[in-house]
Amino acid sequence: MDKIVDHINVNRDRYVEELKQYLAIPSVSALPQHKDDVRRCAEWTADQMRRIGLQTVRLEETPGHPIVYGEWLGAQGAPTILFYGHYDVQPVDPLNLWTSPPFEATVRDGEIYARGSVDDKGQVFMHFKAVEAHMKEHGRLPVNMKFLIEGEEEVGSANLDNFVNANKALLKADVVVISDSPMFDRGVPSICYGLRGLAYYQIDLRGTKSDLHSGSFGGAVANPAMVLAQILAQMKDRSGRIKIPGFYDDVVELLPEERAEFAKLPFNERKYRLELGAPRLFGETGFTTLERVWGRPTFEVNGLLSGFTGEGAKTVIPALAMGKVSMRLVPNQDPKKIGDLFEAHIKKIAPKTVELSLTRMHGGKPWMTAFDNPFVQAAGRAIEKGFGQRPVFNREGGSIPVVATFQEELGLPCVLFGVGLPDENAHAPDEKLDLGNFHNGIIASAFLYGEIGGLPR
Ligand code: BES
Ligand code: MN
Ligand code: MN
Repeated sequence: MDKIVDHINVNRDRYVEELKQYLAIPSVSALPQHKDDVRRCAEWTADQMRRIGLQTVRLEETPGHPIVYGEWLGAQGAPTILFYGHYDVQPVDPLNLWTSPPFEATVRDGEIYARGSVDDKGQVFMHFKAVEAHMKEHGRLPVNMKFLIEGEEEVGSANLDNFVNANKALLKADVVVISDSPMFDRGVPSICYGLRGLAYYQIDLRGTKSDLHSGSFGGAVANPAMVLAQILAQMKDRSGRIKIPGFYDDVVELLPEERAEFAKLPFNERKYRLELGAPRLFGETGFTTLERVWGRPTFEVNGLLSGFTGEGAKTVIPALAMGKVSMRLVPNQDPKKIGDLFEAHIKKIAPKTVELSLTRMHGGKPWMTAFDNPFVQAAGRAIEKGFGQRPVFNREGGSIPVVATFQEELGLPCVLFGVGLPDENAHAPDEKLDLGNFHNGIIASAFLYGEIGGLPR
């Protein structure tokens, strides 16, 4: 491995220059005007896979954006890693809050700033370079590898489950590896053993045919903005508990041992609060911040739209009100079942004074795994070699919908080894990736392939 580590060290600057090209492609999966850019990014990804020595690289078409597949299966008798990541990115708005343009990657103070730097192109690219280092130094990998890089993760992976189910033989492997999550903190690498699930809705309310003069009609009809506020206010009580009947029925409670482990992590609540700029933290009574984010479900309003929001004042009763809401779920909550409970509840509490319509948007199942399996242990050793630090074990509040599918449909354990930092602004302006973590992540990935390659199948 010395030769490989040397190779990675010598090529450090080249990696950054190449990553800049990847980050220059605006592969925003949510926006139709970027459809061609998303495809161009898939092609760039495929081309990169070919360059580093993967074989049978191809785009797999879906009803949406293409999936990129590539493999190297020359390690006879060794286990197979299925690596999953995504090449699509979130929209960039609000654009005016970016210090440098989101698709012109810029290095400042050891961080590379661009949309997709941490989520997830930078972390995918780290694995490409780890593969390349093995190939350049030894002409082979110490493990069999299959790469599955999708272009629809940020819009809910709607076509990926079908692809996985239709291609079980193609995707046969021993373990899934994913780098699409933050590490616990700067200098505290981690392995993530749990993700929350998601159920997302748009709520539309109509009060009248059109907007009304609030003087001529105020008092005579319900105001949909007010009704929406009243509905939303009934979703959670003052102690942060969700009031949808049946919502908690399937929640697996945090075990005392797990809570004790969370409490041992180097978490500074005051620093966390100050970094967020929140006057006070808020969450479900009876739980710590880490417990709330990692191990408890939540109901959030993502956005609201109604009436007059321009400068000055306009006396009007809006005809429409719209809200986007989502619920983060924990094991064993099922997004379909939770969605049904939410729909039943909102239909029950919505007054007859407005027309209600609900649109079910994306969702995903929560996921959690035991971390005493040999693959997780192997990842622990690799991370220690790359970062000079033993990783801690953490859960995360975010969602990667396909992880539960890999576990349930392919029966595979998943190792989530992410190198992002909690403050790297994923989905926000000034998204960035620490180049030291990127570099150590390449070394750790290169070790990971060797560690897993040495395990029995
Ligand atoms: N990389 C994130 C998932 C993530 C975030 C994992 C934070 C761990 C911690 C992923 O790209 C993402 O943003 N997922 C979406 C899923 C949704 C669009 C279905 C999410 O969590 O909102
Ligand atoms: Mn991601
Ligand atoms: Mn994301």
